Amino acid sequence: MALSQSEQKILVANTAIDTLIEKGLIFSGMKIGLGTGSTAMPAVKRLAEHIKDGTLKDIKAVVTSFQTQNACQDYGIPVYSMNDRAIGGKLDLAIDGADEVDPECSCIKGGGAAHVREKIVEYNAKVFVVIADSSKSVKTIGTKFPVPVEVIAEARIPVENALNELGAVCVLREGVRKCGPVITDNGNQILDCTWKTPINVAEMETKIDEICGVVEVGLFSKNKPIVFISKEDGSVEIRNLK
Ligand code: 5RP
Repeated sequence: MALSQSEQKILVANTAIDTLIEKGLIFSGMKIGLGTGSTAMPAVKRLAEHIKDGTLKDIKAVVTSFQTQNACQDYGIPVYSMNDRAIGGKLDLAIDGADEVDPECSCIKGGGAAHVREKIVEYNAKVFVVIADSSKSVKTIGTKFPVPVEVIAEARIPVENALNELGAVCVLREGVRKCGPVITDNGNQILDCTWKTPINVAEMETKIDEICGVVEVGLFSKNKPIVFISKEDGSVEIRNLK
């Protein structure tokens, strides 16, 4: 029987954590960045199981959202800031979900509005790992799943004008069970952008990040990840793992 999407998320999270331990990329004493979302959460759980059974010791985690912070607190995984001396702004590995992954392993992230801290963590990790179910694997980026841009509230309209100049149609992300816009963990707002035709991901990432008032865009093209993608048939495809 075909696996459901939530079964695929658990499969890919468990496979990635176990494979990365086997390959020595997750190891005792390491500094690890932990992502946000419904695929990252089972990965945090699997990591916690390996800490509990003694496979992993002295793990220092840096989280990407309040969701991940709460999960680490529940599981007893010690949480640090990127700025702590024990971390020194650098991580051995970061693992996270994605909204879309293209054949070059460029991604859209930020469906959970956490892409600012995700990018800080994942662009400062020696190894970046993306875990995703098969629905996230796409040929091109930009026309289907919206690319989130976190903006300073006061700059919303000027940023929207600049994004329109880059061909994007923008929608302010609205809260669910909260009136008005989503307010991110950093106190900002999100413009969700789509284009009529596929975009050049690396060029667009650079151009959007140059707009005054943009905090960060959810395009990830500059630290190419190892990618694990689970399939309905129970297999897991791995890209970029040596
Ligand atoms: C949060 C993210 C998530 O990693 C992304 O939205 C995927 O989420 P999920 O695993 O729940 O499908 O970028 O900002």
